[in-house]
Parts: sequence; C-alpha cells; structure tokens
Amino acid sequence: MKIIKVKDYKELSNMVSEIIIKEIRKKPNLTIGFATGKSPLGAYKNLIREHKKGKVDFSRIKTFNLDEYYPINADDKKSYRAYMFNNIFNKINIKKDNINLLDGTAKNFKKECEDYEDKIKKNPIDLQIVGIGVNGHIGFNEPGSTIVSRTRLVDLASETIKRNKYLGKALTMGISTILKSKRIILLASGKEKARAVRDFIIGDIDKNIPASFLRKSKNLIVIIDKEAGSLL
Ligand code: PGA
Repeated sequence: MKIIKVKDYKELSNMVSEIIIKEIRKKPNLTIGFATGKSPLGAYKNLIREHKKGKVDFSRIKTFNLDEYYPINADDKKSYRAYMFNNIFNKINIKKDNINLLDGTAKNFKKECEDYEDKIKKNPIDLQIVGIGVNGHIGFNEPGSTIVSRTRLVDLASETIKRNKYLGKALTMGISTILKSKRIILLASGKEKARAVRDFIIGDIDKNIPASFLRKSKNLIVIIDKEAGSLL
C-alpha cells in the first residue's frame, strides 16, 4: 500500500484526475471502475475540464460503477446512474455502450449481479476508484462483509441510511470483485473520514472495517488530505 498525503481536497482531486488521464494516455481503452459520493466529484470536474480543452479522449474507455440503490426507479434523481450521467458521462465523449452500471430497476437482482460479475471477468478493471464510508464501507460493502463477497444485494447499515437519506437496499460489487482490479485508488478527504482512515490503515484486516481488505491488493494507492489523515 502506498499512502500519499496531500494538503486538501483540491490537491487530492488534482492528483486523482492526473492519474486517470495518465493511464488513459498509456492505454486508451482503459477499463475504469468509478465511484459515486462526494469524494470523486472534484476529480470528475477536472476530467471534464481537461476533456473540453482537448487534453483527454474518453472514446475508448470502458467503465464499471461500484454500486446502485435497489430497487430504484429509472427516473429517480438519487440513483447512481443519474449521478454518473449528470456529473461526468454527459459531459465527456464516452460511448454509452462502454458504460456498465448495476441496474437498480432490474427485476431479477440475482441475474443482474451474476451478469455484472461476468462482464467484469471479461473486462478486468485496470483502475478502480473508491471512496471510504465513515463506517469503513467500500462500495456498499458494509461492516460484516467478507473478503470473498461478490456482487450482490445488500442491506445498508443504519449509518449509511441516515447519511445517504435512502431507505432501501443496494446492489454492490463485492470485496473480492473490487480486489480483482489491477490497481485501486482509495481517496478520503475531510475530518469526518479520519477515524475510518486510521482504522483501515493501522487496524487489523477485519470485516468490521471492510476497507481494510483492500490492503490485500498488490497495487493500492491511498490518497488522503490533511484532515482525513489527522489521526494517523
Ligand atoms: P462520500 O462517500 O464520498 O460521499 O463521503 C463515500 C462512501 O460512502 O463510500
């Protein structure tokens, strides 16, 4: 695990978008695992800006997202599909066919999860971006999730329900799914993440802090700002 400490959210966002752009230049058909939430928003803004300047071409990249609420209506603004299209996909030259999202409207959630695992197996993720929840979750792998977990339907932790204001379940890549990524970048910003960051970096590798399992990855980069790293 490599830990990079930066000053603040702006520096963190710049570093993440620079890594993504560099990797796309090296491999134009890069498969990227994207995340939602507040943490990657600054990096997405940078990617849009650099694309507008003609500095990066997204036409050949493929993407997978970590998770989605379930069930959720197709037109629900809270969906992670809506988040991705509003915050990045509609603003860059990505091909719709290259976007893979868990479908929160799927009737058969088991088949949806199995199909997603198969798609990832066929298109291994080169670079996975993840945030960390205040309770140490990654994607919606809440405390109690195991290292062998695959893409599946999960209950949300009460803390997550409160923070996300979503009363329901979710589909999420499993921890084993995420660990198959060739490279993982975990980002954390702000004081509210300090405890989770400390626990996942210096605590035991344990299912109570699902992010700790990422330490098993051979290629994990953790980018944290001063506040998120304040308890280390
Ligand atoms: P945040 O979410 O980026 O909105 O803090 C992270 C997460 O819960 O995974």
